[in-house]
Amino acid sequence: MKRIIIQYGGTGDLAEKKLYPAYRNLMERGYEFELLALGRRFAGREEFLSSLLEADVPTSFTDHLHYLFHDMDHRDAVDRLSSTIKELVGEADEAEFIYYLALQPSLYEGAIAQIKEIDRVLACACALTKKIIVEKPFGFDLESAKRYNAILEQAFSDEEIYRVDHYLGKEFMQNLLLMRFHNDIIRRIWDNQSIESIQIIFDERHGVDQRLGFYEKIGVVRDTIQNHILQIVAHLTMGEPASISFEDIAIEKQKVLCSISPIEHFSLGRYESLGADTGRVVETPTYAAFTLFVNSYYFAGIPIHVRTGKMQAEAKSLIYIKFKNITRDVMSDDSIKENAVIITIDPELTIDFSVNLKVPNTSWKSQPVRFRFNQSETFSVNSPEAYEQIVEKILQGDKSLFPTIPEICESWRIVEPMLKEDLPVEVYPVRTLPRFVDAMARENNFTWFA
Ligand code: BG6
Repeated sequence: MKRIIIQYGGTGDLAEKKLYPAYRNLMERGYEFELLALGRRFAGREEFLSSLLEADVPTSFTDHLHYLFHDMDHRDAVDRLSSTIKELVGEADEAEFIYYLALQPSLYEGAIAQIKEIDRVLACACALTKKIIVEKPFGFDLESAKRYNAILEQAFSDEEIYRVDHYLGKEFMQNLLLMRFHNDIIRRIWDNQSIESIQIIFDERHGVDQRLGFYEKIGVVRDTIQNHILQIVAHLTMGEPASISFEDIAIEKQKVLCSISPIEHFSLGRYESLGADTGRVVETPTYAAFTLFVNSYYFAGIPIHVRTGKMQAEAKSLIYIKFKNITRDVMSDDSIKENAVIITIDPELTIDFSVNLKVPNTSWKSQPVRFRFNQSETFSVNSPEAYEQIVEKILQGDKSLFPTIPEICESWRIVEPMLKEDLPVEVYPVRTLPRFVDAMARENNFTWFA
């Protein structure tokens, strides 16, 4: 079978930094496909190839990497694209087209209309299957997400549509489910009887950089909260699925998302512009903090404090689960610390359990110590790149790592109040936290995990 990935946004940041390395690794692992990059940045293939970051891109990859200058608005665009695809199909009697849209949401409608048109004009004598891959954010708000979906479903069945949130391809997300559901000692303490609060901290060192054009229209809420952060919340608090199948997990995640009550203590920040001459004047929110509650029997009452954003002094991605400290009162000993589980995602995946143990040569003095799981030490492997897992699943036709449309719509419902245009935005100097981050902790009686 001839398989062709048609990469919309083929000269963009995502394709260059994440998708091409993933495609290349998959080819090295034996997957066979042709890759057609579409873009406007380069006139021809040579120029495109020499722009690829790595100098040592092997010919085993570039031999299958094609390029087409593609201006979606040009009247010849459909003809040129369909004849290029036809050439790539050649004499094959079976073909699969994978359309991958790594585009601004505002360009989806045009791209989908074009794909429908290609479908119509492409007379191909072979047996044809197709898939369409759509990057996050899926839509711009709830209304547009529903609209894009309706347009997509005119040309593709839900089976053929893959809506990407690459966090589902991350090892820690999948591990969260295994850790919670394959361990009785954890399962029994994972609820509001034992957990006092949760923090999700996603501080990034980098700024908007070359993605300014994309990011400017998106902002932090659409970029990471509507998708990555809410998926983390769902993984942390979903009930046990009937099985570890995609459908059963999706049912449980959707229940969580439906039970999230309106967010609280929400604040937005934007890092101080780096100056007009750097081309990096950011006018859109790049930082946010808030608290949410999952109103299910097992998690109601546990505040989940979230902070996420760019241009921070230190890259810090972690989930901190703080347990109640009843022991301290029962033992009448203020020095007893609460127990905690800390899941660190960057720079490497570790899971710490913090428990109180006796300090030698003391009379009942305890001190918190950590038991650590370090994935690379235990299994001698680092986390596979999320995008490699995502693309592999697409090639295999396995939808287990993709959010469903009800999950996506529910997530838009949750974040819609965060998208109002008149919300104040604090300007913070680069490499510092916005002031509201500490103020939020102070006013709500908690301390951010450091
Ligand atoms: C992307 C966002 O989806 O996720 C980026 O668009 C963000 O702004 C990135 O930096 C974080 O992903 P990762 O894999 O680097 O943790």
